[in-house]
Order: sequence, then structure tokens, then C-alpha cells
Amino acid sequence: MIQKIFTYILIVLHKVRLLLFVQNKYISFGSGCEITSGVRVRAFDGGVIKFAEKVCIDRFADIQSKSGEIFIGPCTFIGQFSIICSHYKISIGSDCLIAEHVTIRDQDHNFGTIKKTSLAGMRTSSIEIGNNVWIGAKVTVTKGVKIGNNSVIGANSVVTKNVPANTIVGGIPSRILSETK
Ligand SMILES: CC(C)(COP(=O)(O)OP(=O)(O)OC[C@H]1O[C@@H](n2cnc3c(N)ncnc32)[C@H](O)[C@@H]1OP(=O)(O)O)[C@@H](O)C(=O)NCCC(=O)NCCS
Repeated sequence: MIQKIFTYILIVLHKVRLLLFVQNKYISFGSGCEITSGVRVRAFDGGVIKFAEKVCIDRFADIQSKSGEIFIGPCTFIGQFSIICSHYKISIGSDCLIAEHVTIRDQDHNFGTIKKTSLAGMRTSSIEIGNNVWIGAKVTVTKGVKIGNNSVIGANSVVTKNVPANTIVGGIPSRILSETK
């Protein structure tokens, strides 16, 4: 009984923390979102993050926008330890399943200039992920990629090119394996 009360208090405190410290004009959650413990959501340097309703973010996922925009559509699931990082624009549709340890970044470091890579700034290009997309474990999606509705990205893939709708891709770099129907 005491354990149940303690758990309940922890859940309430977690929700209050989200309301007080996370929900603001830069970060907003639709109704029914589920954010588990250890999740980090950060918007800074003018960055914005919008979660539609019923988005579920599993533990230790890291979602950050540094002067970029992130939109996550309704009923999308983001698996544990996944990273979504925007310096420009990332949109993810509705009902997507993003497995664990997935990385989605719309930026690369500039390299090969006279400056050190760490000081050479970033190049960016938007990422668009459609509805009902399943992204397998440990996938990386690089800048500028569009993934069409109902597609599947095989585990461990690195997606560097657009993926048409209703397509299964896999590999490094990812290639079309087949169609979903
Ligand atoms: C992509 C996937 C869905 C395909 O499953 P499937 O339709 O049963 O496909 P098969 O296992 O029959 O494989 C078909 C072909 O694709 C290849 N393939 C399958 N998955 C691949 C992957 N992740 N990367 C590269 N190639 C892959 C297979 O080697 C096979 O090639 P072949 O025809 O030359 O032998 C599955 O392999 C996968 O990666 N699932 C993700 C699992 C995961 O991350 N789960 C997280 C829980 S949310």
C-alpha cells in the first residue's frame, strides 16, 4: 500500500515537473502525451518543439532543438535512448514507431575548411518523415531525407536518401529491399 502511494506521488511529481518546467512557449505537448522518466526535451537559441496528442516518449530519449523546429505527430512512439536533434526542421507524422537508439539529425558539421571542424559551423537540411513509418532499432537518418508514408526502415540502417512511400529499406547506406504491400 505504502509503495503504491509512493509510486503515485512520484508520477504526480513527474507530471507537475513537466507542466511547470517543460511546457512553455518553445515546447508544447498535446493532450495525453506520455513522457517517461529520464527523457530530456530541450529547446534553445529560439528552437521550438511541438508534440501532438498521445505522443509517447520512452526513457532516456533526447529531443532537442537548437534554433530549429521539431514537430512530432499524434500517437507516435519514440523508443528509449533515441535522439532527435534539429538545427533547422524535422517533422515526423502520425502513428510512427521509432525503435530504440535511433538518431535523427538535420545537421552535419562543416569540415574540410581552414577552421577546425568543431568551429566551422553546421550545414542543415530538413527531414520529413510521413505517417505510419516504422524505424527499426539503431537506425540513423541524416539531413535532407524524406521518408514516405507506411515505410519501414530495417534495423541498423543509415538512411541518406529519400525513401518512397510503402517501401522497406535496409543497409548502410539503405537500399530498397521490397514494398510493404
Ligand atoms: C526490415 C525488416 C522489417 C524486414 O523483415 P522481413 O520482411 O521479414 O525481411 P526478411 O528477413 O525476409 O529479409 C528480406 C531481405 O532483406 C534483407 N534485410 C532484412 N533486414 C535488413 C536490414 N535491417 N538491413 C539490411 N538488409 C536487411 C535480408 O537480408 C533479406 O535479403 P536477401 O533477400 O538478399 O536474403 C527486418 O529485417 C528488420 O530490420 N526489422 C527491424 C527490427 C527492429 O529493429 N525492431 C525494433 C522493435 S520496434
